[in-house]
Amino acid sequence: MEEDKKSWKGCMGYVLLLIAAGGIATGLYFAFRPQFSPTKDRVSDHPAAIVSKYADALKIAMQFFDVQSSGKLEHNKIPWRGDSALDDGKEAGIDLSQGLYDAGDHMKFGFPMAYTATILAWTILEYPDQMAVVHQLDHAMQYLRWITEYLINAHKEENVLYIQVAAETAAAMAAASLVFKQSDPSYKGTLLTHAKQLFNFANKHRGTYSASIPEVATYYNSTGYGDELLWAASWLYHATKDNTYLEFVRDNGPKFANFGSLTWFTWDSKHAGAQVLLSRLAYFAGQDIPQDSGIDKYKEAAEVFMCGLIKDSPTASTSRTIGGLIWVSEWNALLHPTAAAFLAVIYSDYMLTSKTARFSCGDRDKRYYKPSDLRDFAKSQLEYILGENPMNMSYLVGYGEKYPQYVHHRGASIPADAKTGCEDGWKWLNSTEPNPNVATGALVGGPFLNETYMDSRNNSKQGEPTTYNSALLVGLLSGLVSTSSVVKSFA
Ligand SMILES: *[C@@H]1O[C@H](CO)[C@@H](O)[C@H](O)[C@H]1NC(C)=O
Ligand SMILES: *[C@@H]1O[C@H](CO)[C@@H](O)[C@H](O)[C@H]1NC(C)=O
Ligand SMILES: *[C@@H]1O[C@H](CO)[C@@H](O)[C@H](O)[C@H]1NC(C)=O
Ligand SMILES: *[C@@H]1O[C@H](CO)[C@@H](O)[C@H](O)[C@H]1NC(C)=O
Ligand SMILES: *[C@@H]1O[C@H](CO)[C@@H](O)[C@H](O)[C@H]1NC(C)=O
Repeated sequence: MEEDKKSWKGCMGYVLLLIAAGGIATGLYFAFRPQFSPTKDRVSDHPAAIVSKYADALKIAMQFFDVQSSGKLEHNKIPWRGDSALDDGKEAGIDLSQGLYDAGDHMKFGFPMAYTATILAWTILEYPDQMAVVHQLDHAMQYLRWITEYLINAHKEENVLYIQVAAETAAAMAAASLVFKQSDPSYKGTLLTHAKQLFNFANKHRGTYSASIPEVATYYNSTGYGDELLWAASWLYHATKDNTYLEFVRDNGPKFANFGSLTWFTWDSKHAGAQVLLSRLAYFAGQDIPQDSGIDKYKEAAEVFMCGLIKDSPTASTSRTIGGLIWVSEWNALLHPTAAAFLAVIYSDYMLTSKTARFSCGDRDKRYYKPSDLRDFAKSQLEYILGENPMNMSYLVGYGEKYPQYVHHRGASIPADAKTGCEDGWKWLNSTEPNPNVATGALVGGPFLNETYMDSRNNSKQGEPTTYNSALLVGLLSGLVSTSSVVKSFA
C-alpha cells in the first residue's frame, strides 16, 4: 500500500462499494473465525537438483495465498482463518466473494489482484516442472483460478468491469488461459473471450482507471495506461498467436514503451515485464513471427533493464543499499528487488535455453555479461530477503530463525477468538505484544535505505505484506529452486 489511510476496524461484512464510470471497487473489512485444519504440505524427497532451502522458502511463501484468500474457504489450512466476504457483490447482483485480499488491511482491489494473477500465471508457465517437484503447482493453479473466477464474475457485460482496470485484467486472463489450456479447455476459452473483450474495451476507452475512479488513487494509483495495453497485448499474442496483437505492440511502442530508460517492474508499471515477455519471442519464436515485428526493440530494452541490475555494469542503477539490495521506495521496499530479480532469472533462463552466451552493456565502455551474472544477481536479492542482511533477519514470515513478529496484518494481529466490534480493532493495532497469529508466507515491506527495520505493527511502510509481493517471490523462488531452464513455448 502506498498510504495507510484505512482504519483497523473489525466490522464483519462491511462492504465498501465505489461506483463510477462503469466500475465498482469492492473492499471489505472482515473478522476472522477460527477453524482448524491439520493439513500440512511436506516434501520428503528432494531430487538432487533442488536447492532445499529455496524449496522450503517456496512452500512458505505459497502459504500467504491461504492467508489472503477471500470467500468460502474450501481447503482451509490456516487455523485462525474462516470464511469471509461471502456477500461481496450482492448489491450488484453478482458474486464477488472470491479473490485474494491485497495486503494487511484486507481490501480487494482488482488492479493489484489482476497483477498478482498475471505473475502467478507467468511463473506457472515458465516453471511448471520446478513448481511440481516441490508440490506447489496444483496449489498455485488453485489460487490463480480463485482470482480469475472473481475477475470473470466482475466482468458480466462486455463493456462493464466491476473492478475498474481493464487492461491488466485482460493480461491476467490471457496468461491464465495458457495455464488452463490443457487441463480445462473450455475454461481456457472463457478466459480468452473475456481477455479479448477487456483489451478492446481498454483500448477504446483509453485512460487510467484511477482517473475514472478517484477513490482508488490513494491506495493503488495507476500513473499510465500505455504500459498495461502493451502488457495485455503481449499476453494476448502469446495466447492467440494473432498477429494483430504483435502489430499493436510494434505500432504503439514509440508512444508507450519507454525505450531506453529503465523503469522498475511493479503493479503500476509493466514496461519491463512486457519487454521480457516479448524477448521470449525474439529468443524462441523464430520464423513464426513476421520479420518486421519490431520485437528486437523490446529485447534491446529488456537488456537495458538487465544492465541496470548488474552491479558492475557501466549502466548499473545506483538505486541500491550498501548491502546490495535494489532499493527504490521507502514504502514496500522489497517490491522492486523481488520483481527485478524475478525478471532477471527469467531472462537468464531465456539466454541459457537458447544457448545465448552473452549480452553487452554500455556504449563506449562496452562490457559483456553472461546469463550466470543475471542469475547471481537474482540470488543475491533472494539471499538478502531470506536473511543475509545487516539485520540478520528473514523478511519472509515463517522462514528462518528470526523474522518480523509485528507484521501489519489484521488477521494475524487479532486473536482468533476475539469478539470484535466496529471500533475494537485499535486495541490490537496498538498492542505491544507480538502478533497472536503468524501470517506465514508474508513478505513484509522491508528495510529502509540504511538497512534498518523497525518491527512495529503501526509501521505499515515496512511491516505491511502484500499478496503481489508474495506472487513475485514465488516466481523468483520457482526460477531459482533448481538449475533447469524454461520451456521454449507456452503453446
Ligand atoms: C495519480 O497519478 C496521476 C498520474 O501520474 C497523478 O497526476 C496523480 O496526482 C496521482 N494521484 C495520487 C493521489 O497520487
Ligand atoms: C548480525 O550478525 C553479525 C555477524 O554474526 C553481527 O556482527 C551483527 O552484530 C548482527 N547484527 C544484528 C543487527 O543483529
Ligand atoms: C490506538 O492508537 C490510536 C492512534 O495511533 C489512537 O487514536 C487510539 O485512541 C488508540 N486506541 C486504543 C484503544 O488504544
Ligand atoms: C534509518 O532510516 C530511517 C528512515 O529514513 C530513519 O528513521 C532511521 O533513524 C535511520 N536509522 C539509522 C540508525 O540511521
Ligand atoms: C508506533 O509504535 C512505536 C512503538 O511500538 C512508537 O515508538 C511509535 O511512535 C509509533 N508510531 C506511530 C506513528 O504511532
